[in-house]
Amino acid sequence: MTRAAVFPGSFDPMTNAHLDVARRASGLFDRLVIGVLDNPRKQALFSTDERTDLIRSCVADLGPHVTVDAFDGLTVEFARRHGAGFIVRGLRAVSDFEAELQMALTNRKLAPEIDTTFLMTALEYGYVSSSLTKEVARFGGDIAPMVPPPVAEALNRRLSGARV
Ligand code: PNS
Repeated sequence: MTRAAVFPGSFDPMTNAHLDVARRASGLFDRLVIGVLDNPRKQALFSTDERTDLIRSCVADLGPHVTVDAFDGLTVEFARRHGAGFIVRGLRAVSDFEAELQMALTNRKLAPEIDTTFLMTALEYGYVSSSLTKEVARFGGDIAPMVPPPVAEALNRRLSGARV
């Protein structure tokens, strides 16, 4: 029996906290599909293709059992399409828990055969978020501790014009 999981998110952009969760999940599951939500109603800094490509470059060393795919619609349908019995989500702090519990219970109602598994982010990334990283980058702060190098480069390139 092979165990497959999806790790869905907005990933605008992927942070070290996300990457840490992906790394942990890659050791737990036979197949891990990182799902990039394509949500035209949400104004993202990076397009879905850009977010997908950035994640691919960040997870290249995790092995061929880790893949990246964009999706729209429901996460549980994305999981079903990939034959995944698990949804992976990261928890950084207690403050994440309430929203995550609500999502997990909603997903369970929609798809009782799929379980959500929570992985704790490494302590040093407990403060890291995509939105704050973008804000720091926008004002020229050092984002190197917060995001993988390809993301730092892309952020600095994208936001350098915004600083003048
Ligand atoms: O990185 P994020 O923004 O915290 O990820 C949220 C995400 C993408 C996991 C969530 O918004 C989601 O699952 N969206 C897809 C639509 C869906 O399935 N909604 C019902 C589940 S709560």
